[in-house]
Amino acid sequence: MPNNDAVTVDTADREGDSVALGTDQARPNAGPRNPIETRLQAVITAARFHGVELDRGTMRLAPNSGSPSPAMLVDWLRNAGLWARADRLRWRNLMKLKSSAPVVLLFSDGSAGLLVGVNAARHVALIKDPSAPAGEPPVPVDELRLSQLWHGETLMMRPQRGLAEEEQPFDFSWIFRMVVRERRILRDIGAASLTLSVLTILPPLVVMMVIDRVVVHHSMSTLALISLMLAIAVVFETALGYARRELIAVCGTRLDTRLNLHVFNRMLGLPLDFFEKNPAGQTTHRMYQVYRVREFITGRMLSTFLDLFTLFVLLPFLFYLSATLSWMVLASAVLISMIIFAFLRPMRRTYGKVVRAETEKSTVLVETVHGIRTVKSLALEPQQKDQWDFKVANAGVYRLEAARLANWPNTLVTPIERFAERGVLLVGAYLVLTGQSDISIGALLAFMMLGFRVAQPLVSMARLLEEMEEVRAAIGEVGTVLNNPQEASSRSAGLRPRFAGALKFEDVTFAYPGTKAPALKDISFEVTAGTMLGIVGKSGSGKSTITRLLQGINRTYDGYLKIDGIELREIDLPHLRRSFGVVLQDNFLFRGSVRDNIIASRPGLTIEDAVRAARLAGAEEFIERMPAGYETIIEEGSPNLSGGQKQRLAIARALICDPRILILDEATSALDPESEALVNANLLRIARGRTMVIVSHRLSSLTECDQILVLDKGKVMDLAPHPVLVERCAVYRQLWLQQNRHMEKHGNRPTAVGPVLAQGD
Ligand SMILES: Nc1ncnc2c1ncn2[C@@H]1O[C@H](COP(=O)(O)OP(=O)(O)OP(=O)(O)O)[C@@H](O)[C@H]1O
Ligand SMILES: [Mg+2]
Repeated sequence: MPNNDAVTVDTADREGDSVALGTDQARPNAGPRNPIETRLQAVITAARFHGVELDRGTMRLAPNSGSPSPAMLVDWLRNAGLWARADRLRWRNLMKLKSSAPVVLLFSDGSAGLLVGVNAARHVALIKDPSAPAGEPPVPVDELRLSQLWHGETLMMRPQRGLAEEEQPFDFSWIFRMVVRERRILRDIGAASLTLSVLTILPPLVVMMVIDRVVVHHSMSTLALISLMLAIAVVFETALGYARRELIAVCGTRLDTRLNLHVFNRMLGLPLDFFEKNPAGQTTHRMYQVYRVREFITGRMLSTFLDLFTLFVLLPFLFYLSATLSWMVLASAVLISMIIFAFLRPMRRTYGKVVRAETEKSTVLVETVHGIRTVKSLALEPQQKDQWDFKVANAGVYRLEAARLANWPNTLVTPIERFAERGVLLVGAYLVLTGQSDISIGALLAFMMLGFRVAQPLVSMARLLEEMEEVRAAIGEVGTVLNNPQEASSRSAGLRPRFAGALKFEDVTFAYPGTKAPALKDISFEVTAGTMLGIVGKSGSGKSTITRLLQGINRTYDGYLKIDGIELREIDLPHLRRSFGVVLQDNFLFRGSVRDNIIASRPGLTIEDAVRAARLAGAEEFIERMPAGYETIIEEGSPNLSGGQKQRLAIARALICDPRILILDEATSALDPESEALVNANLLRIARGRTMVIVSHRLSSLTECDQILVLDKGKVMDLAPHPVLVERCAVYRQLWLQQNRHMEKHGNRPTAVGPVLAQGD
């Protein structure tokens, strides 16, 4: 978007009430303004009014994508813990705004203005230019001028009231509230249904008249009139039927979308702990149960809701036709409901079993797919097959049990349903024949046509309850995942300091939840910003645990862990993680191009940034040799990359946002000596200007570190540079000697450290 024709409310050129909604030439010392910046600034200023400091870095803007959309801004605000909504307002809505909080008006050129007040008497809105200096007074703008720029798009925000949507338990009442939010559409659907119901009365009414009047009195003109009425009714019914289906489709889609977005968001907000403790298959299957909830909401629930309308309209009419028969229909419906009710409890129990069995089944499936390499290479197929057979049989047993149980109410209900539909006719005929009732033949037929329409909604309500049991089980399943405490409860809170990278552990003791022995005991050490810190120790000594605490994955430690003197738990979690780069032993690369993988965490960055990061990570050379260079597509599980290449890509990915602190946890352990040497050769270059935490089994790759932390069984043994450690730390010396004997055997002894070793001996 060219900047020079950006039209903004200009505060610089202000005389009386007239405002130059003009071009930038009116602004003396400002170059052409960037509408995107103006828009972001408007939102940031408005959020600040509510005490929330938005982080500019969290607004992910793709290059050349233009201004952030209202939906993106709403997301941004919500993630920062504000209530936010984008809406289309009219001028008269603006005039009625009472709140003193600024409202963001999104302009059509991609920029925005802040509405800080209105003067209804003079028909002006007071608008502030977000990029104007703080003290500048707002500009009064009238409707005509505003309409040149503003077509109604408005962003409103306020502090959250009560529990954030993310923190409310996922259950029936949550779903109910979500449905209620669509009340506008629901109201329209209701109105359409009501009209439709009235129209359904028409044909039976007509039949009644035709039989009673036309047939009996042979009146041709009445027949013509009735035909006309019927024709009109058909047209109406067709049109309204269309409208109703359309509305149901829209409403269903909206509910479905909202449900899906919410569920995924919540899942992402769960702590890593949760995923480590629960098998992926189980979690996936449980989350997948959402589809049942969706089907229920958009299917049975909506249609039953609409059928109820029909009921309200039809019942009085039926009673008008014949009270006796109506009572009989009602009694049948009640009987049916009672039968279904009686089976609810046992059904709930059996469905619970079915769902559990299904979950176990899919756990095996997902595990097998994920671990298929191991399954194949160890020839575990028969075992997996046995497991699967067993689970399938199990699920089958429960399914059959549930189906058999459900068969009972269905069977019992059938005769009663038939009675309500047809038996009533016989009773009616009997009443007419014996002269006990004054119901006419026409009315009897009309009743016949409508009677089942009343019984149906009643029965379907009872069925709704039955289905609700299934859905309750499904919601319960989804809830066991989503209702775990969210990691991001500290999402909006916390400090966002600019890190230098000094790390300090003060008496940190930590045990994983559910374990007795602490993984870390009274850890105390300190390194300055820019240190290259190595961590060594035997397997299980707590090295990875230290890096996990640093990333805020586990936050339930005792003692203090400070970054630049700020206790870690007081730092905003997303901010903390963004300040870290992490490379693990086995890194997951997403499906997509090499470039996309490198800039995964910063979609706004360009190919130049990707190249720079790749060069720093030593990945440039092999990427350029790939068939399509940076555009080469990496498949899931990255089979087209070697281990070393994958690792260097992962390092490039971690470097892309220039993290203040870079953690490499066994990042080079799985590499062959050549690839390892390549990565290590770059480490010093990578380390420039940031704190590095390097965990490694191979001491040879740590000799360059400024400081090396030696851990043993969760305790700090020593902290010093390599030469010092070799001399004074027994644990370290032992590890060092072990590894170098091994190296010597292969004639691959690192030459650089030879003299040091000699000293140590
Ligand atoms: N998610 C977890 N849940 C429970 N206990 C854990 C968890 N992760 C690690 N532990 C335990 O904590 C201790 C320290 O583990 P940690 O992963 O920090 O060791 P490490 O030094 O990184 O070992 P390695 O060199 O094998 O990677 C171990 O005894 C381990 O059993
Ligand atoms: Mg480890």
